[in-house]
Formats: sequence, C-alpha cells, structure tokens
Amino acid sequence: MPLNRRQWLKSAGLAAGAATVLGNSFAAIPSFHSFLEQNELPHLPPDLMVKLSSNENPYGPSPKVRETMIKAFDKVCRYPWAERDEITQKIAKKEGVSPDHVLLTVGSTEGLKIAAIAYLHEGGEVVAAEPTFEAMLYYAEHMGAYVNRVPVDKNLGLDLEEMERRCNSNTRLVFVCNPNNPTGTILPAAKLRDFCESLARRTVVFSDEAYYDYITEPNYPSMVELVKRNLNVIVSRTFSKVYGLAGIRIGYLVARPDIIDRIQKFQVDRPNMLGLYAASAAMDEVGFYQYSLDMNAKARKMICDSLDALNLAYVPSHTNFVFFKTGRPIGDVIEAMQQQGVRVGRPFPPLTDWCRVSTGKLEEVEVFQKALEKVFG
Ligand SMILES: Cc1ncc(COP(=O)(O)O)c(C=O)c1O
Repeated sequence: MPLNRRQWLKSAGLAAGAATVLGNSFAAIPSFHSFLEQNELPHLPPDLMVKLSSNENPYGPSPKVRETMIKAFDKVCRYPWAERDEITQKIAKKEGVSPDHVLLTVGSTEGLKIAAIAYLHEGGEVVAAEPTFEAMLYYAEHMGAYVNRVPVDKNLGLDLEEMERRCNSNTRLVFVCNPNNPTGTILPAAKLRDFCESLARRTVVFSDEAYYDYITEPNYPSMVELVKRNLNVIVSRTFSKVYGLAGIRIGYLVARPDIIDRIQKFQVDRPNMLGLYAASAAMDEVGFYQYSLDMNAKARKMICDSLDALNLAYVPSHTNFVFFKTGRPIGDVIEAMQQQGVRVGRPFPPLTDWCRVSTGKLEEVEVFQKALEKVFG
C-alpha cells in the first residue's frame, strides 16, 4: 500500500518546506499550461502515489506481450519495414478494409496532430466540443487555425446540433471524440451516424475512438463503417488504453487511401520495432483484453459506489475514467487528494468544479475511496 504524501514527507524529513511549496503551487490556476508547469514541482516519488490521472490501463502489458517484446530485442538492429507492413495488414483485416486505408502512428496522438497539419496548416477552422481531448486542438491553434469550441450540453454530452450549426465554409475538420474525454459520454448510435454522414458531405470528420473498446452497448458502431462507404471520415484508434501499452506509443488511423496519403506526408517517423511486436501480440490476446475490460468495470463501479455514498454527482461513463462534480475548485481537490497520496486528473476548463478520476488496480481504487472519504466526507 503506498504511503500517503504526509507519511512520505515525514519519513523524508521534508514536511514543512514541501508543504509550503505545495500550498503555494495550487493557490491559483490561471491557465492549463501554467497549471501543468506548477504541477511538475512538488511530487511524491511516482511509486508512492496512486496515479489515477491519465486514463491508463495499469494491468498492461500482459505477460505474453512482455515476452514477445523481450524476444523482439533480437530484431531491433534492423529497420522495422516488414513488420510495419505485417501489422498494417493485420489491423486492416480486423477493421475490414484494405491496408492502404490504415496508417500506423506513434500513439493516436500523432494521428490527431498530423491530421491537423494536413487539413489546417493553411488556416481554417476545426469544430470541436468543449471540454474534449485537446491534443489536436492545441496543435491546430499553434498553427494559427481557429478552434470553434462548442460547449457540451446539459448532460455533458456533445451538442451535435450546435456543432453542425457552427460548421461554415472555413471548416476543414470536425473533431468528434466519442466516447468523450473528459466527460465519458457516448452519443446515441443513430445520431452519431447521421451527424458524421451529413458533415462528411460538407467537410472532413475526425472520429477519435480511443475508448471505443470500453463501450458495452451492443453493436455500437465504429465510424470505420463510414470510411468503408468512402466518406470523408478519419478514425483514430490506440493501443494505449485497453491493451495497456500507453508507454509504447502506438496507434493508427483508418481513412480512405487518398486521405491517408495526404496525412502520411506529414509524418515524422513511425512506430518502432518493439511497438509493432507489442501491438501485434496484444491484438492476439483475447484473454487479457477481456480481463482488462472486466477489471475496469469493477474499478469503475467501486468509484461510482463511493461517489454515490458521498452524494457526489457524476456522468455515467463508457470509458476507463469517471467525471464527477466536486462543487469546489478543482485545484483545491487535486491538492487535497494528492495529500492523501492520490493523483486525479487535471482541470478541464470551463468545468473547473469537476474532477476526472481514472480507474486503476482495485487496491489503488481502494486508496482513492479512502482519500475521497477524507476529502469529501
Ligand atoms: C480521447 C483520446 N484520444 C487520444 C488519446 C491519445 O492516446 P495515445 O496517443 O496514447 O494513443 C487519448 C489519451 O488519453 C484520449 O483520451
């Protein structure tokens, strides 16, 4: 069981000094970037914190994937061209498309960013929800593109009607994060399909499906089905979540070959040999995949039970995290939880009295439950 921060500081003889720094660092959160800078300062050593802040899968990689990666060391003196083709084919088969519809990327983050370059480097707009996953959007802003942010609706789901209304002749991309990070919502299947189909006739729709595997609704569609109908749709998927390979950095895009061609030109490099072997082995492991989903469902239920017990409202989640209403500034909550040895997610403006907590191992969630009880009980 990890020490909590106070116990650790005491054992390290640092309590007074570090506490002052901590107190100051969270006194005000003027912006996301300065928050991150401040948040880097005073930490428990990472192995003493329960890290429920980045939507990872703490059970990965599976023993079989680890073994495969170790064996792959014998290959890392070679360039991974053949392996890249092999896994591209394997993914294409899984998605039901030909290999020229698939682009391997360094995490799906790279796919998000190079799609932004491909479609927005000459300016224009991307329409997206707020809050949502920001990697593409910050990148677009840095290139001088305009991000047309549409507040989520009263249930914290994507407001598709307003997103559609905001599309104009300058819109080059529409970003649909479904399930949405940080709110954890999914769109009704028919609405999602209609929206993507209709917008893909006017512009290009990017469907971020990082959490698709966690959806339990039967026959819930991936927007790959629209790619197969040759529409202007790009889908991103990742090995970072249910496959437990976040540190390996591998993901992929699925889109029409001409769209893949256009995006690929902006790629800096591709996933490495170890990543390719890891992803390939992970795809074969049905057992670990199911285990990860089961453990995630248990951890998420434990989190929701605790929130229920403390009367804290939350959004029903289709992911490996839960977004709950704190009723107090998120900076204070982050600091208070950190004092109990738990790292929760960063602020998600404008919802700054909400907190995103990721699932972890069950024993880690128990630490979270105790911390929550102390902070909110
Ligand atoms: C919605 C969403 N998309 C993409 C990513 C990026 O994942 P990765 O680059 O590890 O594939 C994340 C990571 O948390 C995410 O939440």
